[in-house]
Order: sequence, then C-alpha cells, then structure tokens
Amino acid sequence: MKGVVLAAGKGSRLYPVTHITPKPLLPMANRTTLFYVFDRMKEMGITDICLVVGENEPHMKAALGDGSALGINLTYVRQTEPKGLAHAVGFAEEFVAGDDFCLYLGDAVYDSNLLAYAEQFKASGAANLNLVQPVEDPRRYGVANTVGDRIVKLVEKPQNPESNLAMAGVYFFGPQLWEVLPTLPPSARGEYEITDAIQTLIDRGETVIAGIYNGKWFDTGTLDSYLETTQFLIGDKNLIADSAKIEGKVGEKVVVGDGASVECESIEDSVILPGAQVKVSGAIRHSVIGGPVSIEGSVENSILHGDHKG
Ligand code: G1P
Repeated sequence: MKGVVLAAGKGSRLYPVTHITPKPLLPMANRTTLFYVFDRMKEMGITDICLVVGENEPHMKAALGDGSALGINLTYVRQTEPKGLAHAVGFAEEFVAGDDFCLYLGDAVYDSNLLAYAEQFKASGAANLNLVQPVEDPRRYGVANTVGDRIVKLVEKPQNPESNLAMAGVYFFGPQLWEVLPTLPPSARGEYEITDAIQTLIDRGETVIAGIYNGKWFDTGTLDSYLETTQFLIGDKNLIADSAKIEGKVGEKVVVGDGASVECESIEDSVILPGAQVKVSGAIRHSVIGGPVSIEGSVENSILHGDHKG
C-alpha cells in the first residue's frame, strides 16, 4: 500500500506563524507535525509516500528532502491551485499507479496505531474505508450515515447533520477513486470535495465502509486545536528545550522550542516556537509566538510572529 499526504494548504487559520513556517512543518510539542503522520504511516508498513504540496514546496523539500533520514521515500507533487481535497489527491494518481493507498490529511494527529484499519480495508474488498469518530458538533466536518459498517450517505459540513459521525481525515482507497474524480462538480464553496468523490462511489454501488476510531484524534489547524493537541502530547509536564532561556513565572502547558528566549511576567498554555525572541512585559496566555516579538502589556489568545509593539 502507498501513502498520500495532503499538505498543500496555506494554514491561514494559524497566520501569521504559517506565513513563515508551513503548517505541516510547525513544531507540535517540539517535533515537526508531519513526523506524527509519518510514524502512523510506518506502523502500517507504508514507506512510499507522496506529499501533495502547494506554494510551500521549496520549504517542504528543504526540510524533508527525499525522506531517507526519516526512514521513508518521499515523492512531491504540486497542487497548482487550492481547489479542495479531491483536486489535491488527483495530482497523486501517477504516483499511486493503480495500487491501494492511504490518504492522510497532513494536519491530522492520532494517538494510536492505525494498522487495524488498513487490514480491515484489505480484507473487506471495499472501494474505500474511512476513519470516522463521533463528535459533539459534526457541522464542521464531513458527516457519515451508516448502516452496520457501511457508509450509505455522506455530506460535507451539513447545517443539519443526520449523524454525529465525523470523517476523521484518514481514508483508504482502491483504484475506483480515479474513475470518479473527473466527474465531480465543484461544491457550493467552489472546491472539489473528497466527501463528494466518496458519495459518487456509493452512488455507483461500490462498497464504502467506516472504521470507528476510538482513540484521540486532533485536527490541528486552529489556535485552540493546536494548543489542545500540544497539551495532549506533553501530558502534565512542560516541554522546555535545553537551549531555551526563560525569565518569568512559568505556569502549566508551556512549550518553548530550541534557541528561543522569553522574557515575561508569566507564561501559561502557550507555545514559543524555536528561535523566537520574545519580550512581553505582562503575561502570555493561550498563545503561539514565533518571534521576534516585543510587547508592552499582556498577550492572550494570540498568534504572533514579527515585531509587534503594543
Ligand atoms: C476536511 C474534510 C472533512 C473532514 C475534515 C477532517 O475538512 O473536508 O470532510 O471531516 O477535513 O479534519 P477541512 O478541515 O479541510 O475543512
């Protein structure tokens, strides 16, 4: 089985730090976000991995190279315009070359092994298996209606969800996907949706199944989810790099990267990215700072990178 990781997005919900570091390369508990993806892929025996990149291509190639240092073989393809997940995966068709493959969203973090789902997919003979998870507010996800383990209907971000099962960002496909991609119309938001591609497989009578993921799953693309994932990964300890310097009171849930320096009154529930030089006269709370930052006052619920005077 091959792997395809979608990593072309701009990470706009984490601007401005993602202007400087693409979201898939952002440190998550002081480890590159994509490394968690590659760990899960390797556990499934997947080492041939295609990264679908966008404008971040030079940065991604410089950081990850051919993947050999990480124990994988990386191939890069470029999504020419940001037109949705079904558009992005289309660029990997030649790489996949008719094999089964695992499609993985580059900002999804899972806390446990996914091998059982890969095996379930192979044993099922289905055209597609999707990881799903019950969530409190399904409206921000693709939502699946199931009968037994079969998915019978899928809707992207429904206003009135008919189930609480969210599509959780990992999909296993056979070659049937390539036939439906060229037939898709754009969605209301003008994108080609992977959920619409899967619905088309269902409409054609293909078997599409769900695998319920019972572990912790994080979609890390917002300030809140980035900090929540960080907190989960560090547990109840702070994570301060040996080469980091901190002056000020250090509370809970604090990550400070290599070579960063922080002067503040106090810091809690925040991430200071590697190399950031941060001077804040007040408190730093629930924030991500990439530096250099110099502020008279406090910083709360913020994503900062660059010179801010306040
Ligand atoms: C995408 C998919 C959605 C899925 C979600 C999981 O949405 O379109 O079906 O449930 O990822 O994170 P996005 O977060 O890109 O809006």
